Amino acid sequence: MKTYHPHGTQNLKWWQTAVFYQIYPRSFQDSTGDGIGDLNGIINRLDYLVDLGINAIWISPIFPSPMADFGYDVSDYCDIHPMFGDLETFDRLLDEAHTRNLKIILDFVPNHSSNQHPWFLESRSSRDNAKRNWYIWRDAKPDGSVPNNWVSMFGGPAWTWDEKTQQYYMHSFLPEQPDLNWRNPEVVEAMHNALRFWLQRGVDGFRVDAILCLIKHDSFQDNPPVTPGSYWEMWGHTLEPRYTVEQPEMFEHVRLMRRVFDEFEERVHIGETGTVDVSGLIPYYGRPLDGYDIPFNFKLLHADWHAPTVRQILGDYYDILPAGGWPNFVYGNHDIHRFATRYGYKNHRSVAMLLLTLWGIPTLYYGDELGMEDVFIPVAQRIDPWGINMPEGDFGRDPERTPMQWDASPHAGFTSSEPWLPVADDYQTRNVAAELADKQSTLNFYKTLIQLRRSHPALHNGAFTFVDGLGDDLLAYLREAGDQRLLVCLNFGDQSRPIDLNHLTSSAETLLSTHFNAHSGTTFTLQPHESVLLQLK
Ligand code: NOJ
Repeated sequence: MKTYHPHGTQNLKWWQTAVFYQIYPRSFQDSTGDGIGDLNGIINRLDYLVDLGINAIWISPIFPSPMADFGYDVSDYCDIHPMFGDLETFDRLLDEAHTRNLKIILDFVPNHSSNQHPWFLESRSSRDNAKRNWYIWRDAKPDGSVPNNWVSMFGGPAWTWDEKTQQYYMHSFLPEQPDLNWRNPEVVEAMHNALRFWLQRGVDGFRVDAILCLIKHDSFQDNPPVTPGSYWEMWGHTLEPRYTVEQPEMFEHVRLMRRVFDEFEERVHIGETGTVDVSGLIPYYGRPLDGYDIPFNFKLLHADWHAPTVRQILGDYYDILPAGGWPNFVYGNHDIHRFATRYGYKNHRSVAMLLLTLWGIPTLYYGDELGMEDVFIPVAQRIDPWGINMPEGDFGRDPERTPMQWDASPHAGFTSSEPWLPVADDYQTRNVAAELADKQSTLNFYKTLIQLRRSHPALHNGAFTFVDGLGDDLLAYLREAGDQRLLVCLNFGDQSRPIDLNHLTSSAETLLSTHFNAHSGTTFTLQPHESVLLQLK
């Protein structure tokens, strides 16, 4: 039995014990009737989030944007898109959230701006413009072709020709998202000031987007072909982005951004990472801990729902965490199909049981607490540019971005008009109102689980011990602090499993079961796909 002892449990920062909840703002709640969510909509639903029990809300980009990538193409880093509201509404959101003890985390998109950002409009206006070097411009090869073989993460070349100034500009994502040149100190300063603008307003932190692309190798060499079966191949790439992602200078920028956060009290620095494997997360924590507080760990999100696989990932991660580094786990976001669909609905509550009882900060994705599943969108109706550019693969992200299901009224109570993405067919039964009324719903399961996490410090900072050998398809671990001794046992398989805890305890009581069973005693049977949280003597 291997035990991990969380470090420094006496003076935990607020974010170490928090449950984070991601809102995709276009899809949470519309208050104007235009079919798209907005800030007033979020304000109107804050009490729901309090009741759910979460502590911090991360909101995907709400800044002015032509919406080529639904907000991840920012045309003004220091304002609010009128579709979402304005700065005054944002300040009200901050106030209303803080009054309720909820933190607000925004999304910072440093790698690229919109091609409609005034900086880029200037940059492309002439070769000798003062902002020319704010973006990455290169000459064509002598035959007029692109400067090298680099490709966009969303398919196609990473270079777009600018007719007027007769050069190519680089974009790691869409042509509408030109990459900023972070080798230019003026860019660094302008972007740091954008962070300060919001941190001064009282924002509690940022999730930083696509940092791995921030710096490109200055040799501009061709990238080599992918290794078959590799992480990059899984994402539909034919080239390994050796010269375009995770360059050493990128980690230096993580540290520099961190210093901006440190100018303010108690802000959290969260980063989207590339997680080829868990060891790749370590440099993002910094040396020592001067990088991200929460370098998003996507390793479980990309893993099969298979007990030995999950066991291995957890052990590997806990084994290599840097001293003082705090773990975190993500199972869903706006870029990946919902786990209720990926793993099958029958496993859905077990995923929550795992995520909310591990040692590590959980980040939930809106609607997962209802058991929302992907909504099938035919290729011809895709609106996500990634899905459109790569019609061959299952890359579209529309299915996991559909409107929140609030009640059984038309459009699920999300909007009064046609929503920007279709509402799921099952909304009349799977919605907040219906689930609140059903004691054994997925929503009530989440509420109880989050409440248990809040009321049992053992679940956030207790020692973590794997309990191996209980049986096939099972994953079990103890969480212990003071006189709290909890056991989590998850059945990943299709078979019932007898459980014998005699070597661990003289008595066990169920605090929560995915099936709302009340097992007690030291021997009992877990049903297929059932998971339990038990209190041991
Ligand atoms: C990662 C974001 O999560 C994704 O939604 C976006 O398309 C890319 N970065 C580009 O900003």
